[in-house]
Amino acid sequence: MTSPESTQLAAHVKGISKSFGDGGSRLQVLKEIDLEVRRGDITMLVGPSGCGKTTLISIIAGTLVADAGELTVFGHDLRKMSTAAITRFRSRQIGFIFQSFNLIPTLTCAENVSVPLLIQGVGAAKAEKRAREVLDQVGLADRFKHRPSQLSGGQQQRVAIARALVHEPQLIICDEPTAALDAKNGHVVMELFEHVARGKDRAVLIVTHDNRIFHHANRIASMDDGRVAEVHDVDANHPPPEHLKHVERL
Ligand SMILES: Nc1ncnc2c1ncn2[C@@H]1O[C@H](COP(=O)(O)OP(=O)(O)OP(=O)(O)O)[C@@H](O)[C@H]1O
Ligand SMILES: [Mg+2]
Repeated sequence: MTSPESTQLAAHVKGISKSFGDGGSRLQVLKEIDLEVRRGDITMLVGPSGCGKTTLISIIAGTLVADAGELTVFGHDLRKMSTAAITRFRSRQIGFIFQSFNLIPTLTCAENVSVPLLIQGVGAAKAEKRAREVLDQVGLADRFKHRPSQLSGGQQQRVAIARALVHEPQLIICDEPTAALDAKNGHVVMELFEHVARGKDRAVLIVTHDNRIFHHANRIASMDDGRVAEVHDVDANHPPPEHLKHVERL
């Protein structure tokens, strides 16, 4: 098997399709999607509400299974792996930030952020120390002992981001990571993602409607009704196209 360190291609999606429901109520949500997510890049996925973005990233993260198509993540063919092997692979190599944060309400911020490390067998004291470092990086040094219900939406979002980065995964997948953040904190978080992608040669895949952050992308893929409609490579000479700045929720 290819080791995660040995391939530039973080995720290779080819002809992925997915439907929900059955009979007359069957809804085809993804229609033969092709997408490449590379190391060293920030890839953004944009498109109207309901077009299939969360469904696609859940398949890439291995939490949802496609009906058809090919998917490799760091050279691993997820279709050929057992559920236990996918879970183990995901817990080490993928950091996932959910659209709804999914923090554990009974745990403090530092305990929530420690969870991915504890799953990997890191001792509690060491895990908490590392969790505090990452919480500090997202501007929450004074909130270690707070529980999610004692935090604002933007603070909860930053705890979710810290939890996705704490174990230094090779692929970070984020569903709307800046939706609840003001400009200043959105900037802090995007700087952190840039550091992870470009400084550490990891891959960052971000679903977003937030056109304030488009200029941080290397590549923007726009989806429409279950298909990838356009892919734009963004650099100093090729800024994000104007029409993408008007991508909005329906
Ligand atoms: N488990 C499910 N069962 C049935 N339908 C589903 C399920 N999950 C998603 N869908 C449907 O699939 C479509 C795509 O949903 P998805 O969550 O991927 O959209 P999205 O692009 O992430 O939207 P948003 O921007 O609002 O988050 C929607 O029509 C949704 O109702
Ligand atoms: Mg979504």
